Amino acid sequence: MKMDQPAAHNALDDNREGQVGSPIDRVDARLKVTGQAPYAYEVREAPEAPAYGWIVESPVAKGRIAEIDTREAERAPGVLLVLTHHNAPPQAHYVTDDSQRFERPMGYLDDDKVEAYGEPVALVVAQTLEAARAASLLVQVRIDAEPAEFDWPGHLQDTHKPSPSEGEPDSGAGDFEQGFAQAAVKLDATYTTPFHIHAQMEPHATVAWWEGDKVVVHCSTQMVEHAQKRVANTLKMPVENVRIVSRYIGGGFGGKLPVYADVILSAIASRQLGRPVKTALTRQQMFHITTHRTPTVQRVRLGAQPDGKLLAVGHEVWCHAARGDDFFEPAAQATRNLYATPNLMTRHRVRELDLPRADSCRAPGEAVGLLALESAMDELAHELGIDPVELRLRNEPELDPEKHIPYSTRQLVACLRQGADRFGWHRRVAEPAQVREGRWQIGMGMCAASRGNHLMKAKAKVSLQADGTLEVRTAMTDIGTGTYTILTQIAAETTGVAPAKVRVLLGDSDFPPSSGSGGSFGAASSGSAVLLACENLRLMMDRGLKGPIEAEGAIEPGEMDSKYSQQSYGAQFAEVAVDAVTGEVRLRRMLGVFAAGRILNPKTARSQAIGGMIWGVSSALHEEGALDQRHGFFANHDLAEYHVSAHADIPRIEAIFLPEVDDKANPLKIKGVGELGISGAGAAVANAIFNATGRRVRDFPITLDKVLGL
Ligand code: MOS
Repeated sequence: MKMDQPAAHNALDDNREGQVGSPIDRVDARLKVTGQAPYAYEVREAPEAPAYGWIVESPVAKGRIAEIDTREAERAPGVLLVLTHHNAPPQAHYVTDDSQRFERPMGYLDDDKVEAYGEPVALVVAQTLEAARAASLLVQVRIDAEPAEFDWPGHLQDTHKPSPSEGEPDSGAGDFEQGFAQAAVKLDATYTTPFHIHAQMEPHATVAWWEGDKVVVHCSTQMVEHAQKRVANTLKMPVENVRIVSRYIGGGFGGKLPVYADVILSAIASRQLGRPVKTALTRQQMFHITTHRTPTVQRVRLGAQPDGKLLAVGHEVWCHAARGDDFFEPAAQATRNLYATPNLMTRHRVRELDLPRADSCRAPGEAVGLLALESAMDELAHELGIDPVELRLRNEPELDPEKHIPYSTRQLVACLRQGADRFGWHRRVAEPAQVREGRWQIGMGMCAASRGNHLMKAKAKVSLQADGTLEVRTAMTDIGTGTYTILTQIAAETTGVAPAKVRVLLGDSDFPPSSGSGGSFGAASSGSAVLLACENLRLMMDRGLKGPIEAEGAIEPGEMDSKYSQQSYGAQFAEVAVDAVTGEVRLRRMLGVFAAGRILNPKTARSQAIGGMIWGVSSALHEEGALDQRHGFFANHDLAEYHVSAHADIPRIEAIFLPEVDDKANPLKIKGVGELGISGAGAAVANAIFNATGRRVRDFPITLDKVLGL
């Protein structure tokens, strides 16, 4: 089915089974908490015991391998193979063309060139992990370094307009410059955000083996289909000869949208050895071998009338891309449709650096873009003497200000009002630095949240067995978000089969291709395919066809995408205490009120929202990849020094979803939830710090030195 029309009435609307909308526990919870859900590195399906791979990284960011001496490593106990560019097979190279970015080939060890710090220069394979690791220290590599550029932000005039890999880099409506010039009140502020890493709990890992010409790869990936195509494209083999399996995944956040060296090198080594090989990235290696979020410099200009109505909104973004790559962080994305304004301008520019690849990370665009825009709105509110909630209410658009099309559903106003009520916003003292509890300065802040809503192509197959079991198959993944659970609910609701009798099978490229998990489109896309398959099955069941019977369902985006401006919305409120002496910031409480279409499972949705909000707090207060500007690597490349918010940093957080049904979005009438929580959240914290102290920090994260103005 193509999403050309609003969705029809369906079993989810009737809710006869009471499955959808019910906060059921995760169907895989017991497997996970008892350690029985095998993650990639633990898979025991290989035909024989795997050998262990260990990646040797380049200590130089750019240059040519002059010499690599593997003799000592090869003689070390237990070593089976040392792969370098001398004995690795030829592979295809990454090229920026109009192909899907994550499906592009990515060869490793196939030439003497080094293009980023930490790039693999060898893979040591041994009988045990310890032997491989020990021998990896014996590989001698000499690299002739070449001049490289790492300085960020450095020379921002040395940038270019990127290709539209993440949507159009530039957009607008009306005449921004003129509108801004005419505005009675103007804000012109520049915000900066640092390198972020994904920090998934489970590192990237692979077990690979060959069955004749076919390679079987168990790995940790968000996108089975992209992984399959990347492996095929890299190793120049037919796609049907690559099977990717990824059944349990310990977090993705964008860092597992494609696959990396563990997959490609395990596949190569296992072919060469004629034996399964497994390789995991270490936490330290993940910082350089996989991707990160680019830092940003963002200039926001807001021009308003004295009553707060926006006359002009400008949002310019500078970010980095790896040399020759075409990714950019679409940080001004939300600015294109969040507020009413006749004059709008957004712009993205990219500076290429000799760093590891920058790519999607936790709500690419909104996560850092709203830190800037929503801080700026707070600054403008202060400037105008208008309450920050009220300022947003006064700029509620009727139509999308750029595309001049209606919103599918948009409950920002309701989110703002309910959030303000529930949080006790009226108790906030507008004048900053007025509330004190001993040495603590107390403040409240808020922000609006918005995240683009998407639908991707997806297929699913369902079969009803003679014993009454309903099996659901789709090459979707569950990266920890609850996909197994919500697909079980959708299938049970639509067919009337009890949830205990539903078996959802995911993460296998042998299953019907699906969207994978990313961009908050996974539930909508794979779930719609499952709904449609189950509706077809239900018709057969109603005709009295006895099992086993099977049916298929398929969804693809259609005209609803261009006819309606589709976003999920929210409003976030935070209260902080700032130590007047040390500048330490403690989050005291936080509330997010969201509207994201129908909520399939309030429990998993709440977990998504709260997890996102915590990331938001983390980006406001803690996270920062520290780039060594001399050598082009992340100095704090582990989770001890790259701090993400921990339990001690996070108090009680509440997330509430307002009732909503969006029939323009997809057959399920849901919208994306996963990345909504992080969108904006950090700005609520930043604005609360301003309210507490009167100090505006525009350089994230807001560490205590910046609060103290040191
Ligand atoms: Mo998300 S950053 O598209 O996994």
